Amino acid sequence: MGCGCSKKPARPKVYDPTPDPITGLTQKDRDMIVDSWKIIGNRNAIKQNAVEFFMMLFAAYPHIQNYFGIFKNKQLSELRTSPKIKVHAASVFYFLNSYVENIQDTEKFMGLVEKMAVAHIARGINVEEFEKIRIIFINFLKYILGYHYTPEVERAWDTLLRAQIAVYKQIEESIKAKQESADTDFSDV
Ligand code: HEM
Repeated sequence: MGCGCSKKPARPKVYDPTPDPITGLTQKDRDMIVDSWKIIGNRNAIKQNAVEFFMMLFAAYPHIQNYFGIFKNKQLSELRTSPKIKVHAASVFYFLNSYVENIQDTEKFMGLVEKMAVAHIARGINVEEFEKIRIIFINFLKYILGYHYTPEVERAWDTLLRAQIAVYKQIEESIKAKQESADTDFSDV
């Protein structure tokens, strides 16, 4: 005899598997990015997580340190406790936070990626460095998410980071093409 209080288990959400034509993200990917960011970008942990990410990045690719005048030739142990890395790492992770907040709105998301790309291309950073960020971010996910990590979450973030790389490449190429045509115009004079 039942108690009359049993609830039907919630039906699993049925997702439209169609990926966004621009970012390649499905709705399920976007939901997984938002959910995993609740751990990574948690108010109390975001700054420390950001520093951990930079430590992993600099340990794997020490040359990236040299883009940052203030981090050049510093030991990782010294950097880990430096207030300067905390500030910089936090600004990068707050920017990622704005990606996540706008992930449901492709136009806004792409606008943010473009803004970041233009600012970094102006610093002479090429797209290969963003490929390295993608690789390290995936390792970082496994480390930070622990048992919340799944291959699906990894795939979702990987798609986001590849969309970022694609935009970066496009902008890099269009800037290069503009510069080349300006150089040709000049040499014609
Ligand atoms: C997910 C990828 C990245 C994001 C979201 C990001 C975000 C940011 C943000 C928000 C800033 C501060 C605002 C600004 O000056 O534009 C910044 C500065 C900077 N970023 Fe990135 N960044 C990324 C990847 C990279 C990579 C791959 C490099 C180098 C290889 C890099 C090097 C720099 C440098 C040198 C600065 C200036 C730091 C300073 O002058 O204090 N960033 N980045």
